[in-house]
Amino acid sequence: MPRFDEGQEKHMPNIVIAGAQWGDEGKGKIVDLLSERFQVVARYNGGHNAGHTVIIEDEKFVLHLIPSGILHPGILCVMGHGMVIDPWALEKEIAGLVERDVEIEDNLVISDRAHLILPHHRVLESLAEAARGENKIGTTQRGIGPAYEDKAGRRGIRMSDLLNKDTLPGKLAEARRHFETICRGSNHTPELDWDQLLQDLLAFGERLRPRIADTSLVLQRSMARGYSVLFEGAQATLLDIDLGTYPYVTSSSATAGGAVTGLGISPTRVDGILGIAKAYTTRVGAGPLPSEIGGSLEEEIRKRGAEFGASTGRPRRCGWFDAVVTRYSTLVNGFDSIALTKLDVFDPLAEIQVCTGYKYKGEVLTDFPADLAVAEACEPVYETMPGWVEPTAGVRDYALLPQGAQDYIARLSDLVGCEIGIVSTGPDRLDTILRRSSAVAAWFE
Ligand code: IMP
Repeated sequence: MPRFDEGQEKHMPNIVIAGAQWGDEGKGKIVDLLSERFQVVARYNGGHNAGHTVIIEDEKFVLHLIPSGILHPGILCVMGHGMVIDPWALEKEIAGLVERDVEIEDNLVISDRAHLILPHHRVLESLAEAARGENKIGTTQRGIGPAYEDKAGRRGIRMSDLLNKDTLPGKLAEARRHFETICRGSNHTPELDWDQLLQDLLAFGERLRPRIADTSLVLQRSMARGYSVLFEGAQATLLDIDLGTYPYVTSSSATAGGAVTGLGISPTRVDGILGIAKAYTTRVGAGPLPSEIGGSLEEEIRKRGAEFGASTGRPRRCGWFDAVVTRYSTLVNGFDSIALTKLDVFDPLAEIQVCTGYKYKGEVLTDFPADLAVAEACEPVYETMPGWVEPTAGVRDYALLPQGAQDYIARLSDLVGCEIGIVSTGPDRLDTILRRSSAVAAWFE
C-alpha cells in the first residue's frame, strides 16, 4: 500500500534524476537508493528499451518499464504519459516481480494518456533499420521509435483506448491502414492477426483497468498533500530526441525537461535535478563516441565494468570520461549535483585520460556540436591523470578514498562545472558515498 495517509510536515523536495551521458550510468541504483526519501516515484519517458539494474543484498533486479521505486514497499510508482508501453512486456515484468515477492497492488498506476507499443511497431522498426543499411541506429528493437512516430502522427493508441471497446476497433483500423501502406512500399507481407490483437488489447484493458488513471492529477494531488516525488528519467541526455546525437538517439525526451512534459507537471514543481554520470563513458548502438578507447584496454574496462546491455546483452562501447559531453548535459539539464558511478572500475589503471575538448579543423571545441559530421570528425583532446591503483570498491566514506581518486573526482567536477555529490563504488545499494556538503544532502536535511 502506498504510504499515502501519513502526511508530510514540511515540504520535501521533488527531484528529477536524469542520465548525463548515453545511458547505463547506473540510474536504477541511485533511484533505488534515494527512493526511500520519497513517497512517489514517477517515470517520465521511454519504454522497455531501458534496463535499470538494482542489486539488493546480492539479489539482482532488472527493471525495464516499472519505476525502480517499486522495490520499496509503500512508494507510489507512476508510469507517465511520456512513456510508451508494451502491454505484454508490462504484464511480464509485473508477473516476474510478483513471483519474487515484490508487492504490486495499488502502488503502481499508469497514465491513461501513455501510448502503446504494439506488435506492428516492431515490424516497422526492423523494416526501417534494414532500409538504413550501413547507417543503422542500432536500436533495441522494442518498437520504441515507431510507437513515438504514431504518437506524433496522431494515430497512436493510448492506455485509455483499451477501456473503450466501441472506439478501439476504429483506432486499430487506422493504425493498420498506416502500417499496411508502409508494408506495401517495402514489399513486405504483413502477417499480423488484427482480430486477435483487438481481443488481446481489450483483455489487457480489463486487467489493467484498476491501474489506469490520469496520472498528472494523481501527481498534482500527491504534491498538494506534501508528498515528494522523484521523477525518474530513462536513457540519457545524449540519447534525447532533441538534445542528443541525432539521429543516433532514442525517440523520447530523456532530459530533465521531459519530466515536465512527460508527466504533466509544472516546471515550478521541480526543486532539484540530479545528473547521473559514469566515471567513464559508454554507449550501445551506433553514433559518435569521441572518447572511445579501443583495443585491449577498452576490452578490459568493458569486462571490469560488466558493460553489456541490461536489455539486449550487447557489448557497450567504452570511452574515457568526456567532460565536453557532461558539461553540455549539466547545462541543458541544469544539474544541481552529479552522482558519479562505477569509480572502482578504474582501480587498477596507472593512468587515466579525461577528454577536455575536441580538435576540429585546427580549432579546439569545448561545446558539443549539433552537426554529427563535425562530432564524427573531431579528435579528442586528452588530459592525463595518474590513477590511484588502490581498491575503491565498496568504500563508503569519502575521506577513505585514495587521494588519486579524490583528485580525479575534483578535476571532473571542475571541468563539468557541477559538484559531485554522490560517488558509487560498487553495485550494492550500500556501496555509495553521499557527500555531506552536497546539494543532495541539503535536499534531505
Ligand atoms: P531505441 O530507444 O530502441 O529506439 O534505440 C535508440 C538508441 O538508444 C540505440 O542506440 C540504443 O542502443 C539506445 N538506447 C535505448 N535505450 C537505452 C538504454 O536504456 N541504455 C542505453 N542505450 C539505450
